[in-house]
Amino acid sequence: MKAIRCETYGPPEKVVRITEVPTPSPKEHEILIKVHATTVNDYDWSLVRGKPYLYRIFFGLFKPKHGLGMELSGTIAALGAKATKFKIGDAVMGDTADFGFGSFAEYISINEKAVVQKPQALSFEEAAAIPHASCLALQALRELGKINEGQKVLINGGGGGVGTIGLQIAKLYNCEVTGVDSQEKLAMMTSLGFDHVLDYKKVNFTKAGERYDLILDCRSNKASLSYLKALNPTGRYVSIGGKPFNLIGLLLWGKLVPLFSSKRLKILALKSNIGLEYICDLLAQQKIRCQIDGPYPLEDAGRLIQYFGDAKHKGKIVMTTNP
Ligand SMILES: NC(=O)c1ccc[n+]([C@@H]2O[C@H](COP(=O)([O-])OP(=O)(O)OC[C@H]3O[C@@H](n4cnc5c(N)ncnc54)[C@H](OP(=O)(O)O)[C@@H]3O)[C@@H](O)[C@H]2O)c1
Repeated sequence: MKAIRCETYGPPEKVVRITEVPTPSPKEHEILIKVHATTVNDYDWSLVRGKPYLYRIFFGLFKPKHGLGMELSGTIAALGAKATKFKIGDAVMGDTADFGFGSFAEYISINEKAVVQKPQALSFEEAAAIPHASCLALQALRELGKINEGQKVLINGGGGGVGTIGLQIAKLYNCEVTGVDSQEKLAMMTSLGFDHVLDYKKVNFTKAGERYDLILDCRSNKASLSYLKALNPTGRYVSIGGKPFNLIGLLLWGKLVPLFSSKRLKILALKSNIGLEYICDLLAQQKIRCQIDGPYPLEDAGRLIQYFGDAKHKGKIVMTTNP
């Protein structure tokens, strides 16, 4: 089978290549999935370059030890001896991050818990595009953010994969939503439904004088305590990612702030696929929609990882094994 491999750190277009490898056989609790679609994520961009360098503690000190690709949709081609959740031919989808990655391939053998049934109403391209970003958005807003009807919400990085789904979830709660992103994305964000948009190069939302009940931050890059100024007295700030140094600050201040304030600073640790069935229902009922860039052939993975890193994509970059 064809698989995308990266055996050394470097620029994606140089180090990512397509190779011919044996098709894996499923172990006891695994299923063999014929991959139809997969997507490019921040993970792939960081893994290929081994940056930020701190991540090499997890990725491998001198070369990547994980496979590329986390989201997928496909059909079950074979079952391990003790795999009971699906039958051959079932269409499935999921975020494989908790079970070992490696979806940039024609087939993947993975624990059956890594995927859920794909609803018929979703195409394979849509199904691959939603597990990661939508679960990040849902878990950040609902579990940590405790989102409530009619709240005033700000999404920093609102024009990205998580932000655009986050907006649509917040709108289900009739929230007034402000989105912060680069100038080029503001028109698209307004058309998607953001009530207010801010250009992060022109406005520092923590100093603009507005207060929010809930802030979802996809790019934490400010001093932890500055977020308190932008929160209402019982407001909650939830980070899903950012610069490692800022995240360490948030982790520490997140423990200390409750000692003197009713505001909260939280960091999300994603639990793969938790809430995915709920998101699938919303998509099937057309209450939310996902934005797809592509589909492109899997062979273009190196170029597309660079395209992701250059922030030229509009929506989720989807690749298919049989375009
Ligand atoms: N918590 C967890 O367990 C977990 C797990 C996996 C991933 N993550 C994190 O989830 C995040 C992925 O979010 P995503 O998929 O939405 O990424 P994305 O699609 O790349 O979107 C991020 C958006 O933020 C914008 N942006 C860049 N710099 C900004 C700034 N200074 N202020 C405001 N906006 C800015 C980007 O604009 P440009 O495109 O113009 O740069 C982009 O539109 C990453 O931070 C990743 O590390 C977290």
